[in-house]
Amino acid sequence: MNEKEQIVAAIQKAMPDLDQKVIMSRLERPKDNKNGDYALPTFFLAKQLHQAPQKIATDLAPKIDQSAFDQVVVAGPYINFFLKKGQVGAGVLEAILADPAHYGSSKLGNGAQVTIDLSSPNIAKPMGMGHLRSTVIGNAIANILAKVGYQPVRINHLGDWGTQFGKLMAAYEMWGDEQAVKADPINTLQKYYVRINTEADSHPEYNDAGREWFKKLESGDAEATRLWKWFRRESLKRFMKIYKMLGVDFDSYNGEAFYNDKMDEILQLLEDKNLLQESRGADIVDLSAYKLNPALIRKSDGATLYITRDLAAALFRKRMYGFKQSLYVVGAEQTNHFAQLKAVLNEMGFTWNKQIHHVPFGLMSLNGKKMSTRKGNIVQLEDVLNDSIKLARQQIAEKNPDLANADEVAQQVGVGAVIFHDLKNERTNAIDFKLEDVVKFEGETGPYVQYARARAESILRKAGKPDFAGQDLSLDDAEAWPVIKQLGQYGETIERAAKEYDPSLIGKYALTLAKLFNQYYAHVRILDDHPQKMARLALVQAVSDVLKSALQLLGVKAPDEM
Ligand code: ARG
Repeated sequence: MNEKEQIVAAIQKAMPDLDQKVIMSRLERPKDNKNGDYALPTFFLAKQLHQAPQKIATDLAPKIDQSAFDQVVVAGPYINFFLKKGQVGAGVLEAILADPAHYGSSKLGNGAQVTIDLSSPNIAKPMGMGHLRSTVIGNAIANILAKVGYQPVRINHLGDWGTQFGKLMAAYEMWGDEQAVKADPINTLQKYYVRINTEADSHPEYNDAGREWFKKLESGDAEATRLWKWFRRESLKRFMKIYKMLGVDFDSYNGEAFYNDKMDEILQLLEDKNLLQESRGADIVDLSAYKLNPALIRKSDGATLYITRDLAAALFRKRMYGFKQSLYVVGAEQTNHFAQLKAVLNEMGFTWNKQIHHVPFGLMSLNGKKMSTRKGNIVQLEDVLNDSIKLARQQIAEKNPDLANADEVAQQVGVGAVIFHDLKNERTNAIDFKLEDVVKFEGETGPYVQYARARAESILRKAGKPDFAGQDLSLDDAEAWPVIKQLGQYGETIERAAKEYDPSLIGKYALTLAKLFNQYYAHVRILDDHPQKMARLALVQAVSDVLKSALQLLGVKAPDEM
């Protein structure tokens, strides 16, 4: 029984006619600790009992068994419950210290597989800030799901197929310089791509050439395949560098090209169900019943499309992983695409389409400016990360000039700052990125959380890394209580984040815990002699452990010193 269930049971014992579920749903957590840890408003009983809420509260409170609480207090129409601080505190601290890495985890997922489509950049283009969002949000969701007992499968659905590669090859045929590509592959290819897109407005034949090349690629032409492999290899090399910096790994890199030979089955299945309709030479699936535009499955020249490959990918993933849920962490601008994908799967009779969830996120702007790839004004993620590391390095030099592994820490702080900035915001919000705001050591930033934890570690070092085994940890300072309560809510926060696919709940949780801990540290001289010194140090240890765990869930490192 958790503490909430205990309170519900105590209330119900005093008022046996009340349903446990009803009490559970009415019980509140007051914002202000003055009003207790839980509160029962009695308004909802007024009608049924024909009494004023104040009177109900006054009559009911004395009937509740008080022995499980520090206090049960009537405040107007509310009954406020104050938990036994010492007992709850010891319970929370013991649970954390007994197994810090495990604290907050659960078996909610029962080992079920969840595929997570994340990052999925397009080859022959630099990875931009947009893909950063998918990468870090997807990775954090995978970490969070693992923590509650699911088995995440991280899939990088590389954009390595499609008509744009036809265009790129057409451009390479006209302007390509092998040496230039070898020297700086992605930027050079990107230049060709931007140029052909710009010039195609006045040279429509460039578009035809692009289509021709893509057809060659789809039918396995040797030169087209050679170029494609080369572009892909160079792109992956660059992507891997960024993934290494971010600390993200994938279980699969099966991108769009992987499904090229799985397209026929999809077309066959659609035909068997009589779903394909001809429209100006192309094949479409009518989705008017879903209030959606028709899904274009095959172009008039026979080329398949993004959605055709996604249909094949969905089926492949179901067969391969038997997923319980299948997530697509992709920008909100593709909402329509995923609605169409689910609708077509439904028409095909795949009722597991309900397990598919598009997990959208908002656009990221840079210093208030929108970013776009097609026109070439893209910000390169690698540059952003490197700038952030540089700035972190400067701040460390000012704050802690003697730090031994300053470069390593700067890496952790700089990269962590970028990740944290992305994740502290509700994912569907549009966010702006300003480096100076992101890498600050104060305010709602990753470095702020990392710094709070490093401070906790420094206290523990000064105390000689105490061993808490067998110590009395029933800490009951009023100052410690908000920290203990926040620590106690870690597990339920993770569960909510898992259910809502929302890492920002963990980001906000970590910020609050860091803030509460800093307040505690400002008010209590932890290292001074005091009967509860050991319990206070245990609190510091617990905060350090939980902050580290929360940062880890987000994919952010936690340096011991900074
Ligand atoms: N490559 C696509 C893009 O950059 C994202 C792919 C998302 N995943 C998917 N299965 N459609 O827009």
